[in-house]
Amino acid sequence: MCGIVGYIGSHQAAPVILEGLSKLEYRGYDSAGMAVFDGKKIGICKSVGRLKVLEELTHGGATMPGTVGIGHTRWATHGAPSNQNAHPHYNQEETIAVVHNGIIENYLPLREKLVSKGYQFVSDTDTEVVAHLIDYYYKGNPLEAITKVMNRVQGSYALGILFAEHPDQIFAVRKDSPLIVGQNEDGCFIASDVPAILKYTRKVYFIENQEVVRLRADHMHFYTVDEEEITKEPVTIDWDANAAEKGGYEHFMLKEMYEQPKTVTDTLMPRIKGNDIVIEELGMGDEEIKAIRKIFIVACGSAYHAGMTAKYVIEGIARIPVEVDVASEFRYRNPILEEGTMVVVISQSGETADSLAALRESQKLGHKVLGIVNVVGSSIAREADNVMYTWAGPEIAVATTKAYSAQLIALYLLAMKFAKVRGMLKEGEFRSMLGDLKRLPGQIERLLANKQRIQRFANRYIGAKDVFFIGRGIDFAISMEGSLKLKEISYIHSEAYAAGELKHGTISLIEEGTLVAAVATQDALFQKTLSNMVEVKARGAFVLAVTNEGNTDIEKAADYCIYIPRTNPYFTNSLAIIPLQLFGYYVAVGKGCDVDKPRNLAKSVTVE
Ligand code: F6R
Repeated sequence: MCGIVGYIGSHQAAPVILEGLSKLEYRGYDSAGMAVFDGKKIGICKSVGRLKVLEELTHGGATMPGTVGIGHTRWATHGAPSNQNAHPHYNQEETIAVVHNGIIENYLPLREKLVSKGYQFVSDTDTEVVAHLIDYYYKGNPLEAITKVMNRVQGSYALGILFAEHPDQIFAVRKDSPLIVGQNEDGCFIASDVPAILKYTRKVYFIENQEVVRLRADHMHFYTVDEEEITKEPVTIDWDANAAEKGGYEHFMLKEMYEQPKTVTDTLMPRIKGNDIVIEELGMGDEEIKAIRKIFIVACGSAYHAGMTAKYVIEGIARIPVEVDVASEFRYRNPILEEGTMVVVISQSGETADSLAALRESQKLGHKVLGIVNVVGSSIAREADNVMYTWAGPEIAVATTKAYSAQLIALYLLAMKFAKVRGMLKEGEFRSMLGDLKRLPGQIERLLANKQRIQRFANRYIGAKDVFFIGRGIDFAISMEGSLKLKEISYIHSEAYAAGELKHGTISLIEEGTLVAAVATQDALFQKTLSNMVEVKARGAFVLAVTNEGNTDIEKAADYCIYIPRTNPYFTNSLAIIPLQLFGYYVAVGKGCDVDKPRNLAKSVTVE
């Protein structure tokens, strides 16, 4: 995710900013930039590529003299990675500079409004809207202008703002995007994350939603959105620098699992407009949606598993036939893509060689491709005819968690949109599903809070040889992902089976004490899965069950139960996967495995 660093004090700002940004590099970024007030004006230098390029361009900051400045590393969301789209962004007169983390959801109408008032935009970013909007409201009082902007913009933001007319101050603001400020005897700092300023101070203030900070060289003032001054207590950070990069979490994987409520919100909320789903980037009108005869979903690994879930959801609610294919198979099997077939390629990295080849193959056969991609400006994002981004931010752990969760959300939205346009969902059903979607982040949080119970259970299985995951329908798709999570990081052999298929051979592998994880979230299939659980239990299996709250009947057939909150049956994957991710994680931790970098695996598989 993007990084923010700002400094005001007695030292030169640029070297402090460069140093701070380097501590945020692990978060992933595609461009970097700085704004420094040089005594007369705000100068900006920015560049696509590594921070090193910015360091070279500015000779380690020496070409940008000044003791007040803000800097940014950008992970592209709105607009491809480019010099123009890199932050900071100016207002037209270059008297205001802004860096931003987050997404301004209503940036399009705001942009139109500002254009109609004569503002000219030089980038494709949502951030530039903020710079111009501050300018629009600025009548000499920065705090007043900023709070007015806060009342106009929707979405998430952490902002660092400089005003040429107030060069003795930096302003910082946040809503739903992390931001801290800190102080030492040489000045004050802002940062999007602790490691950026740990070298300078361990006394930090965590800025809460809708709070504004005015930083001067020797003190800071905190305000509410109503411009009322408030007092805040500092927190002393005692993490070591390594732990700080992981936000205090032991591994990136754990951190990323904990980011899932936010990821789900970020992928979901910008596409819900009132009581409707609006997917602007789909590039399809209602008539085109009605004309879809078949959908091909092509992907690898976990993205393929997300596609498997989507098959059940799209077929279930939109009644469009869906075929899901592993990209390495699809590309060589001369697939039959008839008229009216839509191809969807899902990829976190956007660089997976087989998925990219499948995309090109589909285009060669004359079909448009929708990419569901996390990394903006990646190859699949660039080559797909239309791109729906999952706003998960950079994923560092090799085993995907939050990007997979975001893919599910994008696919639910697609399914519901198609179902609505094709008249397959009544207004009431549609609204109730929207309500269920919006409740998912809170429910995921509740499940994550239960991690200790899962950790205790996982500790009993660090010596396991084989584990089986079973489920029917969507629960089978969840099982596939649960099984992959366990085996790829713990190196314990595991397999996922459609529960009804087990007795056609695999059940002979069950022996005394074999762990079978049964997922049973689909009420319509509950009794069937229960029978399969009884079958394996009778052969000595230890049965772990994942089911919905209230399904206590399951305790007859299970040795250990994990209950997930109730949601629409089509969305249960988003909840059931959380304990399974935690289980895989804690088994791997218990075994002492390198959780974030499992052996033989790469985060981005750019070769066949
Ligand atoms: C598993 C995992 C992989 C990826 C697969 C596709 O945890 O991360 O299975 O899902 O390599 O990668 P992307 O989504 O980048 O195309």
